[in-house]
Amino acid sequence: MALRMIRDERDPILRKKSKEVREVTPRIKELTTDMLDTMYHANGVGLAAPQVGILKRVIVVDIEPEMRDPHVFINPQIIEQEGACMGQEGCLSVPNRVGEVERPTRIRLRYLDLAGQEQELEAEDFFARAICHEVDHLEGILFIDHPEFVPVDPEDPGVMD
Ligand code: NI
Repeated sequence: MALRMIRDERDPILRKKSKEVREVTPRIKELTTDMLDTMYHANGVGLAAPQVGILKRVIVVDIEPEMRDPHVFINPQIIEQEGACMGQEGCLSVPNRVGEVERPTRIRLRYLDLAGQEQELEAEDFFARAICHEVDHLEGILFIDHPEFVPVDPEDPGVMD
């Protein structure tokens, strides 16, 4: 297990656009393993490669970490989306801040899997939200950058991370 350092919002790398992965090499696979280890260790539900200082289009998501259901998406592209709803988010790179952001309620994602094969997946609700949040990171966008971002007091007992 190799943990990588999570960059925080002061790091300019988080505002940069990530590059396409041309080939799913052993190094990319190792990156995804490290990203999952780092995400679970930090009690997150998603992580994007730029958050560990790598400007490549790679994200990992597990919205039920206690079940260990990891998803790895390489070169993820949202090819369809519908609906819109506000919902709460946090980010491992933006500690101590939570707030509401508008996201689609359903998306269709095209991506490469770890075998380098093109795949598609439908995601709804919180899973779709988590994917959209991570795809934003690949564009250099943080959830607090959304124009409609509504901060929520993290001390509020109703707030979950
Ligand atoms: Ni994030």
